Amino acid sequence: MTSPVVISGSGLWTPPYNITNHELVDAYNAYSTKFNQDNQVAIEAGAVNAKPLSSADFIEKASGIRSRFVYVKDGILDIERMRPNIPQRSEEQLSDQAEMAINAAKLALQAANKKAEDIDVVIVSCAYTQRSYPAIAIEVQDALGIKGFGFDMLVACSAATFALHRAYEMITAGTAKGVLVINPELTSPQVNYCDRDSHFIFGDVATAIVVESADTANSAHSFEILSTQAVTSYSNNIRSNFGYVSRANDSDPFAADKLFHQEGRKVFKDVCPMVVVHINEHLAQHQLALSDIRRWWLHQANINMNTLISRKLLGRDATPQEAPVVLDSYANTASAGSIIAFNLHHKDMRSGDYGLLCSFGAGYSIGSLMLKKR
Ligand SMILES: CC(C)(COP(=O)(O)OP(=O)(O)OC[C@H]1O[C@@H](n2cnc3c(N)ncnc32)[C@H](O)[C@@H]1OP(=O)(O)O)[C@@H](O)C(=O)NCCC(=O)NCCS
Repeated sequence: MTSPVVISGSGLWTPPYNITNHELVDAYNAYSTKFNQDNQVAIEAGAVNAKPLSSADFIEKASGIRSRFVYVKDGILDIERMRPNIPQRSEEQLSDQAEMAINAAKLALQAANKKAEDIDVVIVSCAYTQRSYPAIAIEVQDALGIKGFGFDMLVACSAATFALHRAYEMITAGTAKGVLVINPELTSPQVNYCDRDSHFIFGDVATAIVVESADTANSAHSFEILSTQAVTSYSNNIRSNFGYVSRANDSDPFAADKLFHQEGRKVFKDVCPMVVVHINEHLAQHQLALSDIRRWWLHQANINMNTLISRKLLGRDATPQEAPVVLDSYANTASAGSIIAFNLHHKDMRSGDYGLLCSFGAGYSIGSLMLKKR
């Protein structure tokens, strides 16, 4: 019988800069007011739509988000720019995303009590990679001195859970001894800070997790992965059309449709019931009751989504101890949200406690892992 597969350590790297809702709204409103003044004639003629104003109160009520961290703050609040100012690095320098990934990876290795020689696979999995090739994962592998192989994966908000599924399968199959799953979510370059409906949604962060066999695990806190579940269902309701084919389309590679955009209401209505069915099925696979689950490390996009999901599952609101919330200070960090929640809220779990890690978002995609504290 193969020995269990475990998560033996996690790392969370938080960027040094913070933007509150008020700061973001002040910049957006100043930008929009100027836009409306500059375009007054065209707006009055009906040729251009006036830009509506944003509100910090709306943002907090509609999403639960109060602030977000960003990799680079410079430029985002500049109404002449409205995007981060990240200078291009030379090909000899470490890329921005690899740097973020390495910061989180080192913390995960430390937590797992592992060295580079204990790892033989690096998966960098996130919503966007800053280039197509060479893979960011191979750059990270090289910088950390890891032998073996690495590859990048893109599954939007479920990139972290889907990569953990691959790690679990590789350790189970015996094709890897230690897998480092890293999620450098550099989302801010893809946020349309000129769009009232989405300017507040995202933040930057990097998370990492070490997956290995229980035979080799020797960390203070390890969690057996009992099983993984995934489902996808195609939807255009969360979309980013950025890609290399824009060049051949003769289209503007930075137009609004190339950045993150969504039909937030539709996403809300579609995804919440899908998540409830998914989680119930995952529990049923183990004949576990909802009350058997001590912790829900849920995706962190919107507090109202998580509240609705908890109510449908439990018939009541989950307590902050049961389903920790991190989106108030981190905002939506694409695939990293549930991993941040795990990283910050797992050390109090007792041996034998069950927890469910679950992501949901664009695709649509839903991924979950049933975990048991060792
Ligand atoms: C995006 C989201 C927070 C918007 O909240 P919502 O309650 O659905 O809000 P709506 O888009 O329906 O807008 C409600 C009203 O507020 C207005 N509004 C939207 N953004 C606003 C802002 N920043 N400031 C002030 N008002 C705003 C809308 O124009 C609308 O006004 P109207 O009723 O006069 O038309 C919410 O739909 C959501 O989080 N959905 C889940 C999807 C998600 O998080 N996806 C992320 C990727 S996984």
